[in-house]
Amino acid sequence: MTSSGGLVIMLSSFLCLFLFPFALINIILKQWWTPTRVQKLMGRQGIKGPSYRLVHGNAKQILDMKNEAMSRPKSLSHDLFPLVQPHYNLWCKIYGNIFLQWYGTVPQLVIMEPELCKEILNNKDRVYLQVELQGFSKKLLGNGLGTAEGEHWAKLRKVANHSFHGESLKNMIPDMITSVEEMLQRWKNHEGKEVEVNQEFMLLTSEVISKTAFGSSYVEGKNIFEMLTKLSSLLFKNVYTFRLLGISNLFKTSDEIEGDKIEKEVRRFILLEQETTNGLLAWTVFLLALHPDWQEEARKEVLQLFGKQNPNPDGIARLKTMSMIINETLRLYPPVVQLIRKTGREVRLGKHDCPC
Ligand SMILES: *[C@@H]1O[C@H](CO)[C@@H](O)[C@H](O)[C@H]1NC(C)=O
Ligand SMILES: *[C@@H]1O[C@H](CO)[C@@H](O)[C@H](O)[C@H]1NC(C)=O
Repeated sequence: MTSSGGLVIMLSSFLCLFLFPFALINIILKQWWTPTRVQKLMGRQGIKGPSYRLVHGNAKQILDMKNEAMSRPKSLSHDLFPLVQPHYNLWCKIYGNIFLQWYGTVPQLVIMEPELCKEILNNKDRVYLQVELQGFSKKLLGNGLGTAEGEHWAKLRKVANHSFHGESLKNMIPDMITSVEEMLQRWKNHEGKEVEVNQEFMLLTSEVISKTAFGSSYVEGKNIFEMLTKLSSLLFKNVYTFRLLGISNLFKTSDEIEGDKIEKEVRRFILLEQETTNGLLAWTVFLLALHPDWQEEARKEVLQLFGKQNPNPDGIARLKTMSMIINETLRLYPPVVQLIRKTGREVRLGKHDCPC
C-alpha cells in the first residue's frame, strides 16, 4: 500500500512539474496577453472603453457603481437609466455610443447605435449567436426561448406559437380571471393602505403560469415567489463575481450550494419568462397611480366595453386606452434592458472589424 501510494504521489508531482509551465502560460495568455491585444485592436479602430483589469475585468467597477446608484435616495423620476445601468450611462458619455468593456476576461462591445443594433438583430449572415447562460443566470432563466439557439430554439418557438395562439389563449382566460378575482379580493382588505404591487403581480403571474402551463389547480404561489426572489438576489449578488479559473470546480460557495438547491425546486416554474409580465403589470399600476386622470380614462373605457361583466377576449382586443397605457409603460420601463449576442466568427459591423 505504502509503496503504491508513494508511486502515485511521485507520478502526480512529476505531472505537476511537467504541466505547471503550460498552465502558467495559459493563464498569462488568457488573463493578460489576449485582453491587451483585443484592447489595442479595437483602440486602433477608434473604439475605447474602461481599461481591462486582471481577473475581474470591469466587473468590480460595475458592481460598485450599481451598489452606489442603488443606495442613493430615489425620486419619482422616469429617468431610470443612470440608476439601473450607471456604468453604461457614464461610459457612453466618456467613450461614445460604442465602447469596449470587460466581463472578467471576456471583451464586450457595448452598442447603443440604433442602426448597428438593427444590423445585429437582423443577423443576415447568422454570425451573431445567442450567448449560453452560465451560473446563476442559467438557473434563473433556464434555457428558454430568449436564449436558445438553433434546433432547440425552433422547437421552443413551435411550442410557444401554439400556446400563445388564439384558441389556446382563450382557454386560459377563465383561469386568469379566477386568479385576478382572488387577488382583488385580497386587495379589498387593504383599502386605504399601501399594496406592494410587484409582489402581488409576481404571485398572480406564478399562479396563472402554474395553472395554465402545468394544470395544477392549487399553487403554493407564495412559496414559489419566495424561491424566485431568493434566486434573483443570489444572481444579482454573484453576476459580477469572478474567481480564478478552476477554483469553481473544486469548491462551491455557500451561495452556489443554495442556488443548486433552489434550482431543483423551481426549475419547472421558470420556463416561461414570467418576470417581464410581472414587471410590466407593476409599472403600469405604478404609473396609473401617478396619473389619476388616466386611471379615470381607463376605468371609463372598461366600464363602457364590459359594464360589470368580466372581460372577454373580443372586448380585450378593443381596449384602446388600455393599450396606449401599456405601450407607454413599455416605452418608459422596458422589461428588457439589454440583449447579448456573441460573434460566431470575425465580423464587420458598420465600419468596425470585430474579432471572434
Ligand atoms: C403559428 O401557428 C399558426 C397557426 O397555428 C401558423 O399559421 C403559423 O405559421 C405558425 N407560426 C410559426 C412561426 O410557427
Ligand atoms: C401599441 O403598440 C403595438 C405594437 O407596436 C401597436 O400594434 C398598437 O397599435 C399600439 N396601441 C396603440 C393604442 O397605439
